[in-house]
Amino acid sequence: MRVCVVGAGYVGLATGVMFGKLGHEVVCADIDESRVKTVNSGKLPFHEPPLETELSKLVKKGMLRATSDQLDAVREAKFVFICVQTPSLPSGRIDIGPVKVASRTIAKGLARSEDFKVIVMKSTVVPSTTDSIVKPILEKGSRKKAGEGFGLCMNPEFLQEGSALKDSMEPSRIVIGSEDGRSGRMLEALYRPIKAPKIRTDLRSAEMIKYAANVFLATKISFANEIANMCVRFGIDSEPVLKAAGLDPRIGSLFLKPGLGFGGSCLPKDVKALRDRARAEKYDSKLLASLLKINDHQPLEGIRLLEEEIGDLAGKRVAVLGLAFKGGVDDIRETRALPLIVELLAKRARVVTFDPMAMDNFIRLMPSVEYAESASDALKGADGCIVQADWPEFKRLGKKEFSRMRHPVVVDGRRCLEPAKVRASGATYLAIGYGLARKNK
Ligand code: UDX
Repeated sequence: MRVCVVGAGYVGLATGVMFGKLGHEVVCADIDESRVKTVNSGKLPFHEPPLETELSKLVKKGMLRATSDQLDAVREAKFVFICVQTPSLPSGRIDIGPVKVASRTIAKGLARSEDFKVIVMKSTVVPSTTDSIVKPILEKGSRKKAGEGFGLCMNPEFLQEGSALKDSMEPSRIVIGSEDGRSGRMLEALYRPIKAPKIRTDLRSAEMIKYAANVFLATKISFANEIANMCVRFGIDSEPVLKAAGLDPRIGSLFLKPGLGFGGSCLPKDVKALRDRARAEKYDSKLLASLLKINDHQPLEGIRLLEEEIGDLAGKRVAVLGLAFKGGVDDIRETRALPLIVELLAKRARVVTFDPMAMDNFIRLMPSVEYAESASDALKGADGCIVQADWPEFKRLGKKEFSRMRHPVVVDGRRCLEPAKVRASGATYLAIGYGLARKNK
């Protein structure tokens, strides 16, 4: 089967590689020529090693290629997946401009084809987008009716960066929303080799399932953050508290790690977009508003811990380790490093940063702070350190590195270090949900 993926980003390339691995011929269409070149050389435009290995194999075998000729790619395909970005506008509303542009091109491709193609919306869009915006564009441009001249499905993606390939090949569920039975059945058949529960639903429910999932994850993280913030004020370590709470199967231990807040390309954007969509229906969600408030506050918790230990930060050298929105990726979208550093600078701290992968991306956002060659160099002469992303290599930091600090005070903003190892190096260990000042009160 020929599969076309429009948009060669995280979701598009993971989807393309997955269908390539299932034996389909895949064309990834993108308007960005440099992205097209990168993919055709067997490389990814972002850091995701297992996905890149498989992509490179498929490109070599001629099973996957990229093109900027979207029209041609659509005409040749049986299934067309819309995987373009839906970023946030300053108001929080999602920008469906890229979805509209892709839909218009696809409509032209449909107009010039004879066969029944299935168009699949995979980009995250708020409920009613597929049936009230995408469908009319496709129908008008192709002069065909959805369900008769072409098929239309909504098939949300749940992958996490860092495990994109595994999450695509072994998903927890596959959601297929459709208006007509034929399109849904065709898409379900395409996914047949993937062993996962397949949920068939209508277009709007499929759109909403994605938001329900991501908002729940954001809620769980924010709940952990709230409990941790209270624990630290009560002189309690939040780790055993959340661990024991999570053992209740109704709660569950995953996504219960407190930190400096949730970042990335999905969670913050989706919370804002759903809130905006609900407002359009005159529903002001108090939960969604609270999630955003808690998340905005969270970087300040890390700074507060540092201040409790070393006092006023003016003139102090603070090392921020980890600029990516989480460890293991080079993605800085909505990274909590940005509000963290902005606040440190507002307090007139001298900030030095390091990230194993994301520095080139972050430098474009913030050219003025100091960038170190290594975590160890960032720590040299520092009065304090805040770990912002859970890179595995930060776990290896010990006496050799922490002893380079002028005042070895470490705030573990992601609960990713080994406290005993940090303390054994002579440093003071503090963390979100774990403080010292009130410990023996
Ligand atoms: C997320 C969803 O997990 C995924 O299902 C969806 O398809 C896309 O959005 P991703 O953006 O890769 O995936 O990030 P994720 O691993 O979920 O982490 C999001 C943020 O939450 C990160 O900043 C992370 O550090 C933070 N986080 C995560 C916590 O603070 N605590 C946790 O327990 C888990």
